[in-house]
Amino acid sequence: SPSSRLALRGDLLDFVGAPGWGELDSPTVRFQPDSWLLIEDGRLAGSQAQEPDDSWRKADHSGRLILPGFIDTHVHCPQLDVIASYGAELLDWLHRYTFPAECRYADPAVAQQGAARFLDALLAHGTTAAVVFPTVHKVSTEALFAAAEERGMRLITGKVLMDRHAPPALLDDVAGAERDCIDLIQHWHGRARLAYAVTPRFAPTSSPEQLAMAGALCRADASLYMQTHVAESRDEMRWVAQLFPSARSYLDVYAAVGLLHPKAVLAHGIWLDAADRRVLADSGAHLAFCPSSNLFLGSGLLDWPATAEAGVKVSVASDVGGGTSLSLQRNLLDGYKVQALAGHRLSAWTALHAATRGAAEALGLASEIGHFGVGTLADVCVWDWAMGPVAQARDALVESLHERVFAWMSLSDERNLACSYVAGRQAFTRDISRNLARG
Ligand code: GUN
Ligand code: ZN
Repeated sequence: SPSSRLALRGDLLDFVGAPGWGELDSPTVRFQPDSWLLIEDGRLAGSQAQEPDDSWRKADHSGRLILPGFIDTHVHCPQLDVIASYGAELLDWLHRYTFPAECRYADPAVAQQGAARFLDALLAHGTTAAVVFPTVHKVSTEALFAAAEERGMRLITGKVLMDRHAPPALLDDVAGAERDCIDLIQHWHGRARLAYAVTPRFAPTSSPEQLAMAGALCRADASLYMQTHVAESRDEMRWVAQLFPSARSYLDVYAAVGLLHPKAVLAHGIWLDAADRRVLADSGAHLAFCPSSNLFLGSGLLDWPATAEAGVKVSVASDVGGGTSLSLQRNLLDGYKVQALAGHRLSAWTALHAATRGAAEALGLASEIGHFGVGTLADVCVWDWAMGPVAQARDALVESLHERVFAWMSLSDERNLACSYVAGRQAFTRDISRNLARG
């Protein structure tokens, strides 16, 4: 037949809805052990227990875990270069490490190499879609969009807006930034699997005039995303209160100019109060929980259940280079520990849902990614259940599916990844000879 047909065999796991907090035996978990996932022309075409006929090319990953590709809802491309930088809290870390690294992205060659290295790293960590900060430079945004298009990836990004409180080499101005945004939107927004996000870095690095411009862009086109940071560290909270004395809260700075809407992704949100959470919930904006970053920079502990109870959607993100790993499993395990410190227990289901279907729904992309529903694009990752003697011994002793998946989430990382598919095309493989031998 002229269509391209691929069938992946393994233990299929995805979600048909949102699991309840702490619910270990959840009807939203769809587990299909030793089954075939059918991919036709890059889209999911169903799943079945019996082997499909010979019109299907087959990749036998039996004994492996097959998941929807992870969605990292907040990560900084240029900060791969400063991941794991020692000894600073947020504002100091930005000035000592982050801003110098971002200055280099004014150079198109650096931007192109950085974008390629970053997206290949995402794919090698099982992340097939992401919401990404480039730098203030138009060329860094173009490089990311172009590299994502080459790879067929779902990517949301946009030029960083910052016109104060940073080194001069990283500053734009309102009129020039607006022109760059409009150019980039016209060229890239809605092309291939790409979408534009209006990207004010955070309130302290944008003038009130620039924030107003960003809000106006969003109001003019409801299909645009918005990404920023909010309420991450206590020093930052104090600074924003000084800079915006008439705002009721940090979040209110964004609300007042129209930056909160259903396509808005706000990273952190640790220090929001109950009124802020209601504003967020009413706006439809969602929060990206970045536990690795919050621990590494010493920023604080998000109360996920309180956030969710207020009706705010929560996804999980690496925030590299504030976070120390692109591996979503590592970030989910950090999330478990952060919640444990606050007296809550994060189930593997809530965690994995947030990194797949939950993130897709929060981004309005659930008809395209995040689960194995028929007709969605086949962004799929194949994982080893256990690598090495410790994980293997633990895996041999599990007594329930939740226990098995929780141990996998806690003990695995990118070394467990066998291969990644993007729209049905293999985008990463750990071991070419092994995969060829398996068909
Ligand atoms: N707030 C403003 N910029 C940044 C950034 O690059 N990383 C983090 N974690 N927080 C920020
Ligand atoms: Zn960030």
